[in-house]
Parts: sequence; structure tokens; C-alpha cells
Amino acid sequence: MIDDASDQDVPEFTTGPAIRTTAMPADTNPSGDIFGGWLLAQMDIAGGNVAAYRARGRVATVGIEAMTFHQPVLVGDEVSCYAVIQRVGRTSVRIRVTTWVRRGFCSEPIKVTEGVFTYVAIGPDRRPRVVPSE
Ligand SMILES: CC(C)(COP(=O)(O)OP(=O)(O)OC[C@H]1O[C@@H](n2cnc3c(N)ncnc32)[C@H](O)[C@@H]1OP(=O)(O)O)[C@@H](O)C(=O)NCCC(=O)NCCS
Repeated sequence: MIDDASDQDVPEFTTGPAIRTTAMPADTNPSGDIFGGWLLAQMDIAGGNVAAYRARGRVATVGIEAMTFHQPVLVGDEVSCYAVIQRVGRTSVRIRVTTWVRRGFCSEPIKVTEGVFTYVAIGPDRRPRVVPSE
């Protein structure tokens, strides 16, 4: 029997990774390792989620800085992207995203990428809007 959901079942969404997924064979480059563009997309999704919650609405990625790929990601790796707000400007939110993988179920996490993503809060007209105060 499945228990009814209660308030106590709600997980803590403000801690932990912004996204977690598993690297799949479809995400590889021609050499068989995970494609950097796929990883970059996961990081952008992670940062975008956090930025959108802070901006309370739609955001667009405007810049990516200091992007570094430290280690390869392999098929089967558990991939976790962490996103931390660095700065909130008038219309922009700057977020540091780091990616860690766990490999083989019992290994230590490995830091594989990091980068700084800037998102602009935009309105329905796709023009910048002011980020609300907290
Ligand atoms: C996002 C967009 C609406 C911003 O319009 P814009 O006229 O360039 O906006 P502004 O010059 O007023 O800058 C808006 C904010 O972004 C910041 N910004 C602009 N370019 C930046 C860059 N390259 N890196 C970091 N921040 C940047 C500005 O400093 C400003 O921040 P602030 O208001 O907090 O001080 C526009 O550039 C756009 O639509 N870009 C495409 C977005 C997109 O499609 N992203 C997905 C890629 S597929």
C-alpha cells in the first residue's frame, strides 16, 4: 500500500544540487565520452532554474564565463550540478555552477566542471525587467 503524501514528505529544495541526472550513451561524443555540449546544457538548466526562482519568472542566459572542463564524464556517471547565486544586479543574476560526478556507486565525488552563468530577467516582450527584491 502507498502512504498518502503529507507535508513531512516534502524534501528540502533549497539545498543540494539544482539538477541531478545520469550520463547516458546518447549523450556521448564520437569518442564515447560524454559530449561537453550536453554537460554545458545541464549546467545552464541548473543555473537557469535557480535564476528563475530568484527572479520570480522568466530568464534568458546572457553570458558564460570562466567555463572549465576539469575531468571527463563517462557513461553511467551520476551527474550533479550545483548552482549558487554570486550576485544579483538590477536585471541580472550571476550564478556559479559546479558539476560533480559519482562513479561506480561507492566512489568519492569528482569535480568535473565549473563556470559562471549570467541570466537576465525578461518580460513577455523578451526585454530585461528588474529583479524583484527578496
Ligand atoms: C538577454 C537580453 C534580453 C539582454 O538585453 P540587453 O539589451 O543586452 O540588456 P542590457 O544591456 O540592459 O543588460 C541587461 C543585464 O545583463 C548584463 N549583461 C549584458 N551582457 C552581459 C554579458 N555578456 N555577461 C554578463 N552580463 C551581461 C548587464 O550588465 C545587465 O545587468 P544589470 O541590469 O543587472 O546591471 C538580450 O541580450 C537577449 O535576448 N539575448 C539572447 C538571450 C538568449 O536567447 N539566451 C539563450 C541562448 S540560446
